[in-house]
Amino acid sequence: EKQGFKHFMLKEIYEQPGVVRASLEAYLDSEWTPDSPSNPVRLGLPDRFYEELEHIQIVACGTSWHAGLVGCYLLEQLAEIPTQVHYASEFRYAPTPLMPNTLTIGVTQSGETADTLSALEMEKRRRLDREPKFAARMLGITNRTDSTLGHMVSDLIDTRAGIEIGVAATKTFSAQLVAFYCLALDLAVRRRTLTPERLGAIVEGLRQLPAQIEAILEVQERYIGELSHQFAETQDFIFLGRGINYPIALEGALKLKEISYIHAEGYPAGEMKHGPIALLDAKVPVVAIAVPGLVYEKVLSNAQEAKARDAQLIGVTAMNDDHAAEVFDDQLPIPTVDELLSPLLTVIPVQFLAYHIAAHRGLDVDQPRNLAKSVTVE
Ligand code: F6R
Repeated sequence: EKQGFKHFMLKEIYEQPGVVRASLEAYLDSEWTPDSPSNPVRLGLPDRFYEELEHIQIVACGTSWHAGLVGCYLLEQLAEIPTQVHYASEFRYAPTPLMPNTLTIGVTQSGETADTLSALEMEKRRRLDREPKFAARMLGITNRTDSTLGHMVSDLIDTRAGIEIGVAATKTFSAQLVAFYCLALDLAVRRRTLTPERLGAIVEGLRQLPAQIEAILEVQERYIGELSHQFAETQDFIFLGRGINYPIALEGALKLKEISYIHAEGYPAGEMKHGPIALLDAKVPVVAIAVPGLVYEKVLSNAQEAKARDAQLIGVTAMNDDHAAEVFDDQLPIPTVDELLSPLLTVIPVQFLAYHIAAHRGLDVDQPRNLAKSVTVE
């Protein structure tokens, strides 16, 4: 049932505030305050997961791989655990040399992606009969606990997004991000890598996200709907981001290509000048994620380099950012938040943009050509 929405994808975009709220309620102790001595996170994972943990490796495909990249950033920056993210299809045939005390996380919303399942299977197999420090520790992050993945690994984080029907993943991505925020916080508390003030600020910031996503949905739908008319003939798009928003640039490009069939590339903004900038001219719009934080000035100057090549510049920026207003031709504003929490907000405008461009082109948004909801071949 589309409940009055034109497509399932649009409905699922609108479900995100509720999904994020429900996941936070499930994993965070609602009574917890910064004065509480306890851990605010409740993931219900066994103690052996945490013992002498030295490395994390994440395997996934597509949008779930992008969630893994955000997860990697959080696990390294908050919990200080060296983390690697692999495309499951690559890891399967060229795995990292066996590391001790390693947690392997498979991220798959469907729980049925063949590449991800076989990468996890291989990892499990090569750790059989080894010394205890090499024993497999496997965690699945999935939206379908009753899936092949669900039966394959004994420990899961259930992302609770509800069934997603649109082939392009939206709400399940947001739910995967919440799972990674909670896992990173859980580990940070156990490893004592955050000050109580920082921990309190992040938990408080997380609790505000659902209302902030609602605000973006309310303000931007019409604006992006109209903006998308400009791209009826556009053939290429570039998405730029840095730091924790680099994966969101990749996600914006993936969403756009899969449902609108427009060629799009996501790049870490600083890499533009090392080649891709040669692609730019007035016919190639550039979407840059430039929100306050560590890399803000850098992204703005990278965006300016694109502007000097006549590219139409669209910024996902903080509301009322006058400085950014001077740089960008169009702004897709989000509430000002800690940069670390921004991906759950910056992803909304890029999902909307992809949706509206595809819908405006009259395409079958929920069933794009050549794609299936779960890819069960390797
Ligand atoms: C993108 C998309 C795909 C999936 C990928 C992995 O919108 O839907 O890229 O993310 O096929 O799927 P799961 O998460 O089911 O393993």
